[in-house]
Amino acid sequence: MERELQKTNAFFTNIIQNSVDGIVVVDTKGVPLIFNQGAERILGYTAQEMIGNAENFRRFYPVELAAEMMRRMRSDEYGPPDKLTTTRMTFINKNGEEVPVNFSATIIRERGQEVGSVGIFSDLREILKVHQELEAAQAQLVHSDKIASLGRMSAGVAHEINNPLAGILIYAELLKRDLADDAAHRENLEVIINQTMRCQQIVNRLLDFSRQSLGDQKLFDVNEIIRRCVDLISHQAFFHNIKVVQELDPFLPQIVGDPGQLQQVFTNLLLNAADAMSGQGQITIISRPTPQGDGIILTFTDTGCGIAPEIRDKIFEPFFTAKAPGKGTGLGLSIVYGVIQRHGGTISADSLQGAGTTFTVRLPLEARDQKAGLEFD
Ligand SMILES: Nc1ncnc2c1ncn2[C@@H]1O[C@H](COP(=O)(O)OP(=O)(O)OP(=O)(O)O)[C@@H](O)[C@H]1O
Ligand SMILES: [Mg+2]
Repeated sequence: MERELQKTNAFFTNIIQNSVDGIVVVDTKGVPLIFNQGAERILGYTAQEMIGNAENFRRFYPVELAAEMMRRMRSDEYGPPDKLTTTRMTFINKNGEEVPVNFSATIIRERGQEVGSVGIFSDLREILKVHQELEAAQAQLVHSDKIASLGRMSAGVAHEINNPLAGILIYAELLKRDLADDAAHRENLEVIINQTMRCQQIVNRLLDFSRQSLGDQKLFDVNEIIRRCVDLISHQAFFHNIKVVQELDPFLPQIVGDPGQLQQVFTNLLLNAADAMSGQGQITIISRPTPQGDGIILTFTDTGCGIAPEIRDKIFEPFFTAKAPGKGTGLGLSIVYGVIQRHGGTISADSLQGAGTTFTVRLPLEARDQKAGLEFD
């Protein structure tokens, strides 16, 4: 009989210990009696630290929380009397990290007398992580879909407008040629010509945005292109009060891609940074290989105004601009986005409002000419 009892006991202990979930039993004074291996794994404390030690126990299960859980168990609002049905809550593990768990509990009675309670909890970290990744992937899909359809529309409009614009410009030039230098309408005509040229620039950028594929692809040094962009741009008056710091890794692997289109990317990022700083501040460009060695990472950090959280997910959309009318067309970043995507890379923006912005560009060693998400007819 005694042996049978011992065997059954060992069997139950085994089940409790080997459960994937955390199982904790406390007496009525809140002193832990059982702290199984699942609880050890999830919370990082050892059974030795916990059993018999109410003080340690309260570090992850504070008195107020325990009191609230006991109140719920005693009421019948949260499940049958003496029970608490599964509840989402957060424990703090030994490293001080938050651990989301599903928690349920029961009061244990012996002959009607309360002798303690048992809590069972499962770790939700992995599930929540997968959820978050799925949500992010979905948001990304919706985003590229949106940009793709905007791109298709822009491409259509740009193609349609291109020819009439060229016509306006040619006839305006012809008229101007026939007018005497001091003719009263000459000034008006010049305004027409200038405004038409501005429209053409916008259309050309729209076409850049809606371009389907990469041009000539070759093996090249991205550092070299960055240096060239900085060189070209820093001579412009707008950049005179801007310090450009280049921390370019001398061992950066060369990549295969379209250097012309990437030059456009860097120029747009630099111009935006300069705008955000109203022409005064510092831009830091860092290049480095990815830790896995399968690509490169470039960051462009400015000390500008930052990007307000409410517009952060719109900045890559064509025609989204936060600049004053006539200042920006909102095409820069959509062109950037398209080029990076066609290279099979990614771009993201981190920003602290008022303190500056960092754009991070990741490019694979070899452009995988990806039309996905940016296919225009
Ligand atoms: N470095 C930056 N710091 C702060 N805001 C930025 C930065 N880069 C972009 N933005 C914001 O994103 C918006 C969109 O940028 P984008 O380059 O697409 O268009 P734009 O600069 O307004 O016009 P365009 O580039 O066509 O002249 C900008 O209007 C600005 O509000
Ligand atoms: Mg811009």
